[in-house]
Amino acid sequence: MSRFVQPHIQAMQGYIPGEQPRGVGFIKLNTNENPFPPSPRVFEALTASIGDRLRLYPDPVATEFRKTAAALHGVEPDMILAGNGSDDLLTIITRAFVGPGDRAAFASPSYLLYSTLVSLQNGRTAVVPYGPGWSLDAGSFLGQGFKLAFLANPDSPSGTVQPRAWIAELAGRLDCPLVVDEAYADFADPDGHAIPLIADHPNVIVTRSFSKGYSLAGLRLGYAIARTEVVAELMKIKDSYNCDALSQAAGIAALRDQEHLAQNRARILATRRRLTDALRGMGYTVDESAANFVWATGGRPARETFTWLKERLVLVRLMSYPGFPEGLRITVGTDHEIDRLLELLREIP
Ligand SMILES: Cc1ncc(COP(=O)(O)O)c(C=O)c1O
Repeated sequence: MSRFVQPHIQAMQGYIPGEQPRGVGFIKLNTNENPFPPSPRVFEALTASIGDRLRLYPDPVATEFRKTAAALHGVEPDMILAGNGSDDLLTIITRAFVGPGDRAAFASPSYLLYSTLVSLQNGRTAVVPYGPGWSLDAGSFLGQGFKLAFLANPDSPSGTVQPRAWIAELAGRLDCPLVVDEAYADFADPDGHAIPLIADHPNVIVTRSFSKGYSLAGLRLGYAIARTEVVAELMKIKDSYNCDALSQAAGIAALRDQEHLAQNRARILATRRRLTDALRGMGYTVDESAANFVWATGGRPARETFTWLKERLVLVRLMSYPGFPEGLRITVGTDHEIDRLLELLREIP
């Protein structure tokens, strides 16, 4: 039967998510989850939502959720689109703008899903490599007839950010939509957030996640912010009920508890500092990260270190990108988890 599958899908590789180990006892520093629990208000909202109403379909357009997110960001509710994680929003956006043969651009190293999404559309990918110091040449995104451009900001795996002024310049010169994937923005300096750019740059679409800052990776919720007319088009593409009742309720509660977010953020930033300095002290090259992970290259060979750690139940992410040294992307866990990681790294014979 598989021969009936469209040839471009047969020819492509599926996206491989980070390992989610079945066994217990792992210190899990490989998929950038938040080590702290979500807001207690999330649990209250979830409990309150479990009842007779589960018989009924959820609000298809997440009205209350959109109002809450809009109020937080100072935009109109019509500018918000809720999604089943930001991956769902990236899928919807790619389906909207990329058709067979169209070219879509993204920086590399970055989130590998962009390439998969473009390939699913039978589109063509154009890679813009990061330069020294994780700089990007805006000119490389221009004049090539791209239908869509992606920028993860902060980027993964580097954790680095492009300044808002640079993104504004790129958006102003691009002749296509620019997706600014802000899955990790909760850990970055708010002065760099791209949402204010939408007012002057109608081609900017920002995506946000609940998986990182809000500790809700298991729930699957995210949102996009864009001009009203863009959101209206994206609405046509999404699954009718792409966000279930529980995630909508939890998302509202999480957004309303900004204090909880700020507390967890402060703890993660303090541990990020300590982890960065300790790794540098061991000879690794670690760029200043604005996310909840760090990218370590140099030092001990990455592959052997990965295996050494995994055998001792500490899971980090080994990543290789063409033209760049193999490295380890390490999620900022609790202080205790990071202490164990550092202890093992010091013990490698
Ligand atoms: C850059 C980036 N964007 C988006 C996502 C997906 O986030 P979500 O869990 O909201 O689908 C990830 C997940 O790791 C990511 O690294």
